[in-house]
Amino acid sequence: MLRYVTTNPGKVREAESYLADGSVSQLDFDYAEIQAAELAPIAARGAREAYREAGGPVLVDDAGLFVETLDGFPGPYSSYVEDTLGIDRVWEIARDLEDRRAAFRCTLAYCDGAGFAASPDPVDRGDRVAAAAAGPDDAGSDGTPGPDGTGSETERAEPLPVKLFEGYVPGRIVAPRGDGGFGYDPIFEHDGETFAEMDTERKNAVSHRGRALEKFAEWYADR
Ligand code: IMP
Repeated sequence: MLRYVTTNPGKVREAESYLADGSVSQLDFDYAEIQAAELAPIAARGAREAYREAGGPVLVDDAGLFVETLDGFPGPYSSYVEDTLGIDRVWEIARDLEDRRAAFRCTLAYCDGAGFAASPDPVDRGDRVAAAAAGPDDAGSDGTPGPDGTGSETERAEPLPVKLFEGYVPGRIVAPRGDGGFGYDPIFEHDGETFAEMDTERKNAVSHRGRALEKFAEWYADR
């Protein structure tokens, strides 16, 4: 059974719509989120930690809003910025930009403890910068046990491979509109509607998470 590592049952329901009936369940596990400039190393590190917790196949996601002319801000810091500034302030920052193009991006990270045959979607093998940020558990061959006591010598020398699937939806930042959805949905417009104006089915059909889940489901069917 695949575990989707999230506190949000809505994400599991969304995953269920792409995967075979009864093949995914929720794992409410709070892995440590490292700081990094990209989503992939954050999700990959989370997947390794969750795999050690679950002892079986896990799927971790990390997502964010990337405003092009703000060099991708808030990007991997979307959650922190939502909690501190709030989306109205993000709109205020973006409103005077000539070019308000933006994208939601989602990275799904899958780990089942085994290696992967080559395919177009990338494999994270433990980026050294992310590993150093994450602490000794993933840090490589320094021989120090992880902070939680997990991770064998072999794992520390060769971090578990993690398969990555990326989804993307283009749009632009607009003044808040709509009552649905969550997070940045009211200020993100795609095809003339904000995500907060779309019903769940329509949003899922175009969303970054939906695109990543689609790629994952196609690959996972043969796993
Ligand atoms: P998470 O990775 O799903 O926890 O999302 C990280 C941040 O991006 C949070 O602030 C979310 O509110 C925001 N976010 C992720 N996906 C979406 C979305 O589909 N709509 C609006 N905000 C999102």
